Amino acid sequence: MKFTDEIARRRTFGIISHPDAGKTTLTEKLLLYGGAIQEAGAVKSNKIKKGAASDFMEIERQRGISVSTSVLAFEYDGTKINILDTPGHKDFAEDTYRTLTAVDSVIVVVDVAKGVEEQTEKLVEVCRMRNIPMIVFINKMDREGKDAFDLLDEIEQKLGLRVTPLSFPIGMGYDLKGIYNIKESNVNLFAGENSKDIHNTVAVKDVQDPQLDSLIGSKAATTLREELELVEGIYPPFDSEEYLSGKLQPVFFGSALHNFGVRELLDGFIDIAPTPRAKKAEERTVLPTEKDFSGFVFKIHANMDPKHRDRLAFIKIVSGTFERNTAYKHVRLDKNMKFSSPNAFFAEKKEIVDISYPGDIVGLHDTGNFKIGDTLTAGETLHYKGIPAFSPEHFRYINNADPLKSKQLNKGVDQLMDEGVAQLFTLELNGRKVIGTVGALQFEVIQYRLEHEYGATCSYENLNVHKACWVDTADWKSDEFKDFARVKSKFLAKDKRNQLVFLADSSFSLQMTQQKYPSIIFHFVSEFDRLSGM
Ligand code: G4P
Repeated sequence: MKFTDEIARRRTFGIISHPDAGKTTLTEKLLLYGGAIQEAGAVKSNKIKKGAASDFMEIERQRGISVSTSVLAFEYDGTKINILDTPGHKDFAEDTYRTLTAVDSVIVVVDVAKGVEEQTEKLVEVCRMRNIPMIVFINKMDREGKDAFDLLDEIEQKLGLRVTPLSFPIGMGYDLKGIYNIKESNVNLFAGENSKDIHNTVAVKDVQDPQLDSLIGSKAATTLREELELVEGIYPPFDSEEYLSGKLQPVFFGSALHNFGVRELLDGFIDIAPTPRAKKAEERTVLPTEKDFSGFVFKIHANMDPKHRDRLAFIKIVSGTFERNTAYKHVRLDKNMKFSSPNAFFAEKKEIVDISYPGDIVGLHDTGNFKIGDTLTAGETLHYKGIPAFSPEHFRYINNADPLKSKQLNKGVDQLMDEGVAQLFTLELNGRKVIGTVGALQFEVIQYRLEHEYGATCSYENLNVHKACWVDTADWKSDEFKDFARVKSKFLAKDKRNQLVFLADSSFSLQMTQQKYPSIIFHFVSEFDRLSGM
């Protein structure tokens, strides 16, 4: 197959939702269509169960599963589909943000009864900021839930989206009769709880076709006709360009549990979802069709076997082909590296592959060379943008609890930070180390992993920080900056990339500082266009 055809047949995406909306169930049904798994229940949920006996043990269990569900790839109808897994638990939100830098589009799952929930709002906001094309899947239509129009309204209001339904439900819950496919004018009849049959679609000429009345009853047919008229009046027609540029979001309805409306979603997705997209590097924009390989690390999975310090770095291929046993340039280290056993992912298995294409993910065995955000190329110096760190929510001093093990502790902390488990800040004043995390759970994870994987013990000490702000100014030698650095010296730290960070202890002090030093800019993400060099 030609290189360009290989690119054109690839779809790399993520499924995002608030926990319990049905992401795992939907993923599993998609895999069933691809023939990648044979039975329902085969995909293990990687979510952290509520009320687990011990949170961090649960996380370890989850880590074991999540290496196998990080990338779920399968073939469907000549299309190569790569689903990138995104943790639903809010404490791992930063993991999800990073994974979103490697997807070309997303499917947002919304529970029909619960509507838009908190995690959905946050994740969609990140996608919106990056203009990632989004399809919305309204799930659990077999249950009583919100009225379809009210829900579409809520999605527009709360998520700031502009939606257009491509399918429409006929009834809901107990009364669910089917789904009308607006694009193809056919009706998928809902055969009820016990249906295993997934091919019960009946084509009708259009919504006026009298056959509809006999299929779903004339009352439901009349309601559907009225509702579709409203849909046409209210919502813009589907426009591929607008969808691809993140300005319009098509909506599908269904029930993942009953495998209902899932095939329509999958077929619709393949039809409209983007092929691997161009990506901006600091130097230039790189097209997937370029001959030379380039890619970047968006995830690192470490130490599944504590006896071997083994890590798997996940690389998204942006351009060219990635080939086994070929030398590539690790741009940050300015070093050529060869990989004899790159892994590709198929459903829940990984296998060594000789060649991978743009859109694909390869897993490279690593002994500590990679950090999240690193770029690999065929030789060109490129730095891919867009893996920012956000201000953590929780901050604690980390202390070494065993003076004989300080080397182990430093190495462990270093590697865990490269993996993106948390962020490390070193105070300017006294060199003390502060760990910042998104969720309180990570402190336990770090402590547990330091002990079990590195043989180091640590203790924590509370530190009152409201927000970490990355500092920038046009003139680092100005009197204003010098005054700021002197007055706030207690609150200044360096992050792992040696960028200056202000650890504001309250929103009030941040506000006052901003007012007092107007020439200093405080950023809430680590990546921004600099006003000057440092
Ligand atoms: P998540 O990955 O987004 O967290 O959600 P997951 O798929 O695990 O689904 C959460 C719960 O919702 C599960 O029930 C699942 O069976 C149910 N569910 C998913 N899709 C549908 C649907 O279309 N209709 C209905 N009625 N339920 C659905 P659970 O009882 O929490 O878990 P389990 O014991 O069934 O695994």
